[in-house]
Amino acid sequence: MSKILAIETSCDDTSIAIVDEDYNVLSMKTNSQVNIFKSLGGVVPEIAARSHSNNFESVLGDVLNDAGLTFEDVDAIAVTNEPGLMSSVFVGLCEAKMISLLTAKPLLRVNHLVGHICSILLSEKTIVYPSLCLLVSGGHTNLYYLKSKDDFQLLGETKDDAIGEAYDKVAKMMGLEYPGGPNIEKLASEIKETLDLKVSNLEDYNFSYSGLKSNVANLIDRGIVEKSVIANSFQESAINQLMKKIIMADNNMDVKRCYVVGGVSQNMQLQKKLSLLDIPMSFPKQEYCGDNGAMIGAAAIYLKGKNVSIK
Ligand code: KG4
Ligand code: ZN
Repeated sequence: MSKILAIETSCDDTSIAIVDEDYNVLSMKTNSQVNIFKSLGGVVPEIAARSHSNNFESVLGDVLNDAGLTFEDVDAIAVTNEPGLMSSVFVGLCEAKMISLLTAKPLLRVNHLVGHICSILLSEKTIVYPSLCLLVSGGHTNLYYLKSKDDFQLLGETKDDAIGEAYDKVAKMMGLEYPGGPNIEKLASEIKETLDLKVSNLEDYNFSYSGLKSNVANLIDRGIVEKSVIANSFQESAINQLMKKIIMADNNMDVKRCYVVGGVSQNMQLQKKLSLLDIPMSFPKQEYCGDNGAMIGAAAIYLKGKNVSIK
């Protein structure tokens, strides 16, 4: 059975996996740089690239050992080639090219966003068409119409901050550590009370989070509302905007299922609220929501190495 060695280094995770052609993850190791960036309040591209370079060999060694395999046993090398922090992407791409050259195995370039969409294959083994896919991460808030395997159409995207970025910025304003998403979720879960925060409501499928972020900043500055209430109100508004666009797309198009992927998709409140909608909903397994090598391997297998570029 074919096996792919898959490499993801587009931001601050050095993640390598070995995936077989039935989307089984034989092994995956991830070195997260989150502890480095906690004290800095966010990712510094130069430091991220250096860390990828320093950690690459040991992560690679661990993933091969864990699977009990050598380069001889893998059939191709898959790697994220865009989009992402250029210096970080470059480290993975150079390492992958080197392995491919030395082992004479094909190099398969994978778009990171297609990788997130394909993270669903690691649990469901198939993607149903036509369907919606909402990609919510630190860099993207994209709504896709998945018409067929060859046709992923971008319906809408954020016009300012990505939702994960808004979570991170709001957390920073509240003195919470990076990454902000899990910390805001935890704080919000302490309370039921919410304030009705105004959000920019674009009429099309596009999203906007900067207005919400400014409203939260004003609330924090006034210093009279409890932090947990602010966190809960921010989260409710942020999720409501996602729900509105999914409902709108479902009303206008033939939609058999909605997939929600990316780092923010592991948020339990988001999963709970979206699951209430009258649309079958799927989320990746928790370990495949954020950036990971396995989704890059899954995309390479699904698309048979074809380099599909989407926005
Ligand atoms: O997909 P990902 O690992 O990296 C990117 O490609 O951006 O997503 C990282 C983002 C960060 O902004 C982080 O705060 C957010 O995902 N995130 C969350 C949660 N866990 C991670 N946001 C909300 N709730 C969470 N539980
Ligand atoms: Zn990502």
